[in-house]
Amino acid sequence: MMNPPRSISLSTYRATHTLKRSVMRDLLALVARPNVLNFAGGLPADENLPRVELQECLDAVLTRDGARALQYGAAHMPLKELIAQHMHTRGVECTADDIFITNGNQQGLELCARLFLDGGENVAVEEFTFTGILQAIQGHGAQPSAISVDLEDGMDVDELADWVAAERVATEPGSVATRSRLIITIPDFHNPLGVSMSAKKREQLAEFAARFEIPVIEDSPYSPLRFCGDTIPAVKAYDTNDAVIYLGSFSKMISPALRLGWLVAPRELIPRFTVLRESLDLESSQLIQRTVAEFLARGYLEPHLEQLNAANFARRDLMLHALERELSGIAQWTIPDGGLFIWLTLPEGTDTEKLLHDALSQNVAFVPGFAFAADGRSGRNSMRLNFSNAPREKISDGIARLAQVIQETANLRESTRIETLDSRGFA
Ligand SMILES: Cc1ncc(COP(=O)(O)O)c(C=O)c1O
Repeated sequence: MMNPPRSISLSTYRATHTLKRSVMRDLLALVARPNVLNFAGGLPADENLPRVELQECLDAVLTRDGARALQYGAAHMPLKELIAQHMHTRGVECTADDIFITNGNQQGLELCARLFLDGGENVAVEEFTFTGILQAIQGHGAQPSAISVDLEDGMDVDELADWVAAERVATEPGSVATRSRLIITIPDFHNPLGVSMSAKKREQLAEFAARFEIPVIEDSPYSPLRFCGDTIPAVKAYDTNDAVIYLGSFSKMISPALRLGWLVAPRELIPRFTVLRESLDLESSQLIQRTVAEFLARGYLEPHLEQLNAANFARRDLMLHALERELSGIAQWTIPDGGLFIWLTLPEGTDTEKLLHDALSQNVAFVPGFAFAADGRSGRNSMRLNFSNAPREKISDGIARLAQVIQETANLRESTRIETLDSRGFA
């Protein structure tokens, strides 16, 4: 009999070999310390989770459905129908047959990566993007290609069109193929940038995705979190050629712990997703699907969103006022109409990773911008601030403490610069 190996070489683990550890995960461990004011995460405030309503729905489901709610089972049809109705409010014409239930958008991203990527492809993403998107791409041996973002109206669709054109290669006379396989965008209340893509750009994106036959993944967990401004239809609403797959999630609009979401895809892809998912977790929990369906069927979602969005709006304003008071003329930041994040940029040369250590000593946390950089380098002078989670009464003071750390760092840089000039005899 062969002896078992005493240790397994790390290189045998393909996933850990290819995946960089998420900076965010390391950071979340730090910010979990008591007393740290958390502007880093992407969580709703505890008091804005609909605990009572979910409990009612859970009780009702267990009483009515009994063992059926506790068994394995196929996707819950009433939930798919309710999701299809929700999609109509986003301008998307679909039925329950176009919907595939997932365990949240992270799973949707992984399934799309499994479907479209074999390794070696280039995937267009916003220049700063959700780390889970980068992980899904890199976990399948593909590379992100950074596309610029206008902080007023989203991804630069002209640059994207040029990228798609450049990725096309002649195969044989008269025919072309694309090396690239995918575009992944976060058009609504972008994480981390806070910006939303304009309707015009969405239309252009859907049009050239169809023209160049390149699939678009529309990752949209934040769209129901609008607290001001006009509603914008989903990119999928402009998709007349089945080029767009829409990812939606209950994480941000009800509760992240549900781990429930969906995707809307061309109908013939739905069985493919079923197979791709089998090796992950087979299916989503019957109990959770039925509880969420009950929540939607009872009409609990609209009043909950009204309350949640009003609370987030108030917190956003508190943060914006504090930023204006403390950092006007020093930093620039985005003003989101919804979602959870503000993107703040400091003068060139500032290093927000270093700044984070000083901020943590003042018990304030944020995420340094480079954590979201598609090229792995940019964003050293930027940071993402979350406004939905910190207690209202602490936001202003937290920004004041952060501003103080920023000022001290700037003063230190200035004095180091003067000393350097002095020592060279230039000043
Ligand atoms: C843009 C984006 N996509 C996907 C996810 C993952 O969402 P879910 O909880 O639905 O898996 C997040 C979570 O923060 C996100 O910000």
